[in-house]
Amino acid sequence: MGPVAKSFGWGVLSTGRIAGTFTRGLAESRTGVAMAVGSRLQEAANKFGTEHGIARRHGSYEALLADPQVQAVYIATPHPQHATWAIKAAEAGKHILCEKPLAVNAAQARTIVDAARRHKVLLMEAFMYRCSPQTARLVGVIRSGAIGEVRLVQAAFGFRAGWDPASRLLNRALGGGGILDVGCYPVSLARLVAGAALKLPFADPLEVAGAGHVGESGVDESAVATLKFAGGIVAEVATGVRVNLDNVARIYGTEGWIHLPMPWGLKSAGTYSFTVHKGGGSEEVTGPVERGNYAYEADVVADAVARGAVEAPSPAMSWNDSLGNLATMDRWRAAVGVTHPEDTAS
Ligand SMILES: NC(=O)c1ccc[n+]([C@@H]2O[C@H](COP(=O)([O-])OP(=O)(O)OC[C@H]3O[C@@H](n4cnc5c(N)ncnc54)[C@H](OP(=O)(O)O)[C@@H]3O)[C@@H](O)[C@H]2O)c1
Repeated sequence: MGPVAKSFGWGVLSTGRIAGTFTRGLAESRTGVAMAVGSRLQEAANKFGTEHGIARRHGSYEALLADPQVQAVYIATPHPQHATWAIKAAEAGKHILCEKPLAVNAAQARTIVDAARRHKVLLMEAFMYRCSPQTARLVGVIRSGAIGEVRLVQAAFGFRAGWDPASRLLNRALGGGGILDVGCYPVSLARLVAGAALKLPFADPLEVAGAGHVGESGVDESAVATLKFAGGIVAEVATGVRVNLDNVARIYGTEGWIHLPMPWGLKSAGTYSFTVHKGGGSEEVTGPVERGNYAYEADVVADAVARGAVEAPSPAMSWNDSLGNLATMDRWRAAVGVTHPEDTAS
């Protein structure tokens, strides 16, 4: 396959915080161009278009999906709206990069996957760190047996958001809670690492146990889970939207261990670095990061589309990887006692 020219046309669906970050990242990508933006409000689309130099500005998501210049949409609404717009995008024949979590639960995610399959469009859940060079290197190190047999994974992603019960982070109707917002990252890393250890693209846990704190917001404000995989691999994952965590990962094997100070990757170009501790010494594993995470993510989508694929290659998220991640989070949320309206609807 030759290089894809920088002409892959993206439509940005919604104009919130991460939509802006992704669009800035797109400018650094090898392949992508922000061709159009769609918002529920024309004014917001105009403002976003001006800020990011996007000429085609639509006052509804439907109009964005009808835009012939748009090859792929980037969906960045709150989680409960992902399914509606991903399915409509598939029906419109657009390829889809949908923010994490792909849906509120595995059953809802399955409806998106079914639509992508039916309409033969690419669908990828936007876990940007899965598209970064650091993650590919990590998988290689684990597969090489450098730390022996993997026994324990520890990973955390959490932050203390300000107290705003109406915000999507704390509002149950908008998919609030740490497990869905950032708990999905350590779960996905543990499943990736267990998979690499077992020579698979990912692995799903056999057992999930969890506990958490449901605060005044009614959603999980902090939570932990233990995941037990085949091959004697156990993971401890932690999350929260009302507590700052260290946001690092450690992977312990029979011959050594790995410390990842920035498992979720770099937002801009630089150098990745993680440490392999072994035999009383340690070695830094480093490599270049030529573009930010979001640029790599956009390129993974464009390259897969250019190959005629409907799923991106591992370690990016395949459909079954996304479904397994959400099934694990369903079990974690059930253990903590947090439900969302979509749990009964689906
Ligand atoms: N990958 C990452 O690094 C990353 C980081 C942060 C967030 N995310 C994910 O991206 C998604 C959006 O997060 P965000 O922090 O960008 O949220 P946000 O700032 O609240 O923006 C969400 C946008 O969605 C649109 N929207 C559609 N229906 C809505 C509704 N009922 N209520 C509120 N907004 C609605 C709005 O855009 P319009 O008004 O233009 O229609 C709004 O600006 C979440 O699923 C989150 O998990 C990913």
